[in-house]
Amino acid sequence: MPSGHQFREDQSKASCILARAYINHLTPGGRSLHRHEQDGESNMESLLSALLQLEVAVVTTERAKHFYSPQDIPVTLYSDADEWEMWKCRSDPVLHIDLRRWADLMLVAPLDANTLGKVASGICDNLLTCIIRAWDCHKPLLFCPAMNTVMWEHPITAQQVGQLKAFGYVEIPCVAKKLVCGDQGLGAMAEVGTIVDKVKEVLFWHGDSQES
Ligand SMILES: Cc1cc2nc3c(=O)[nH]c(=O)nc-3n(C[C@H](O)[C@H](O)[C@H](O)COP(=O)(O)O)c2cc1C
Repeated sequence: MPSGHQFREDQSKASCILARAYINHLTPGGRSLHRHEQDGESNMESLLSALLQLEVAVVTTERAKHFYSPQDIPVTLYSDADEWEMWKCRSDPVLHIDLRRWADLMLVAPLDANTLGKVASGICDNLLTCIIRAWDCHKPLLFCPAMNTVMWEHPITAQQVGQLKAFGYVEIPCVAKKLVCGDQGLGAMAEVGTIVDKVKEVLFWHGDSQES
């Protein structure tokens, strides 16, 4: 594997957040989960800060790279190129399969209209959607829709969100606010604190059900 992208398969307690980029959870650590929304931090950085007591990896789409600086991501960041750089012949690791095995939880934050549509219909044409398509539905997958209000209100959106919930994925609903595009209404990604609390809750209940 390329240096800087070492992937340890021996981690029995991982989980994964993907925020067009994702993260992975693991072991409890010292940081407060409520240390988020600090001055100057993007949503992505706040989310990562809050979840860093877990073991985390981030997977990004190519388009998502426009919305943050890779150097501000303090964990391993995977993108489409890594999948193909790692695989040259049959004995090589297949990144999307290794990542889905390693992670205990996947969080897609934000989930945009494009990827929502792909996931609802089973399309897997990049690293993110391949991991989701290969995801073991017994492990939690949380998604945070985020899009323009009119896109959110289009009837296809409710159908597609309903399809994801039918797969067993957990929706962290979007909220109403003034969006970056200037529109006011539903479609903004849930607050970081809400997302972090939901991740904690799901891990708590999932860990409990695994033990019983
Ligand atoms: C400035 C800008 C902001 C965008 N914000 C969103 C958004 O919040 N939600 C959304 O569904 N699409 C948004 N889009 C459109 C997506 O970037 C576009 O559908 C893209 O193809 C998504 O690719 P991906 O799903 O592979 O990341 C935005 C586009 C631009 C140029």
